[in-house]
Amino acid sequence: MNRLTNKRILLGVTGGIAAYKSADLTRRLQDEGADVRVVMTHSAQEFITPLTMQALSGHPVHLDLLDTETESVMGHIELARWADIILVAPATADFIARYASGHGDDLLTAVCLAAECTMAVAPAMNQAMWAKAATQANVDALRNMGVHTFDPDEGLQACGETGAGRLMDVPDIVTRVSDLFDQGTLAGRHVVITAGPTREAIDPVRFISNHSSGKQGYALAEAALEAGARVTLVSGPTHIPAPERATLVPVESAQDMLDAVMQCAPGADIFIGVAAVADYRPESSADQKLKKQASEGLALSLVQNPDILKTVAGLTENRPFSVGFAAETENLVDYATKKLETKNLDMIIANNVADTSIGFNSDDNETIIITRDGQEPLSKSSKEVVSRKIIATIAERMMQGSEQVA
Ligand SMILES: Cc1cc2nc3c(=O)[nH]c(=O)nc-3n(C[C@H](O)[C@H](O)[C@H](O)COP(=O)(O)O)c2cc1C
Repeated sequence: MNRLTNKRILLGVTGGIAAYKSADLTRRLQDEGADVRVVMTHSAQEFITPLTMQALSGHPVHLDLLDTETESVMGHIELARWADIILVAPATADFIARYASGHGDDLLTAVCLAAECTMAVAPAMNQAMWAKAATQANVDALRNMGVHTFDPDEGLQACGETGAGRLMDVPDIVTRVSDLFDQGTLAGRHVVITAGPTREAIDPVRFISNHSSGKQGYALAEAALEAGARVTLVSGPTHIPAPERATLVPVESAQDMLDAVMQCAPGADIFIGVAAVADYRPESSADQKLKKQASEGLALSLVQNPDILKTVAGLTENRPFSVGFAAETENLVDYATKKLETKNLDMIIANNVADTSIGFNSDDNETIIITRDGQEPLSKSSKEVVSRKIIATIAERMMQGSEQVA
């Protein structure tokens, strides 16, 4: 299970002999799902090149505080805001001293000073430097400031001496970083969500669509991210921004949506079909804009679209836990239960779209969670609150499923 999925880690590298280990550390953090960006001090660049760290992290490395160009792209305040955690590894005695006394005279100390996120340092230095009263006082000061310190290991050092001062082993640093995050109920899970309407082309300028705003699907994506999941959001056209950490796959028609879903849903842990997929599409879409014919009507011949939910829930291999939505205007529970059975779903969320204060374009929703064992009504509340409850219920079900398998 990836323990750092969606987590943003700003790795500070300072000028110690252990700086070469920050290359491996970057990789190991990424293996756990983290997005890693790197800040290097000037001294660090004498030990390992920014090019190496850029190639490994996949992002430009941040080096200078007083650089108008980089400040305008992602300056020290943005870097501090971006990070969920700032980890300085290795942290030199000099950096620790400057950080503990509130200096902000280079990019890394300025970022640390501006940061309000979780902070951690992994000191590494010669055993005598580590044992010095000044160093220990500085480390204590950091601890008192709430900075997590990953104390160095004992052993043979690069300088040939033996004692405490070696950088903590990289896998142990990764574990300690992971432990600093609350592991959400869906940590390490991959959730695929469809959202919004689809557009079925009549001609190059006209289409058949519906009133779906995408709000419910996007709120579910946000709730799944909050619960620690990796989220792929396959979305029809909407006017709202997608959650930043979701992977957005924009689509137009039902067929596009099916194609995109079949790329990512098989093998995912959870599939939630929230999109209001058009049941029908024009049999053929005109290549050129249709012209108005004098005093004549126009008959459109429609054919059925593929059923995305049924296709995913019907997978015989790599089938995710499959959840559907039933937007109905009457006989809510009956219709939704029938849909649960005919589409072979694990759960269906029924909502009454006849009431315009809930459902489609509104900010609120009132739903009933239906499974094969029963129903749970969720009282009217914002789509965010409803989404958190739905995600919590899905996580509970999945937990029960894995306990039964075990
Ligand atoms: C070869 C060499 C190795 C060094 N190794 C360390 C080290 O492991 N730990 C440390 O605290 N300082 C070490 N230093 C001293 C730091 O490089 C020096 O204090 C520097 O100012 C640190 O700058 P920074 O904290 O801005 O990166 C070393 C210096 C040299 C020349």
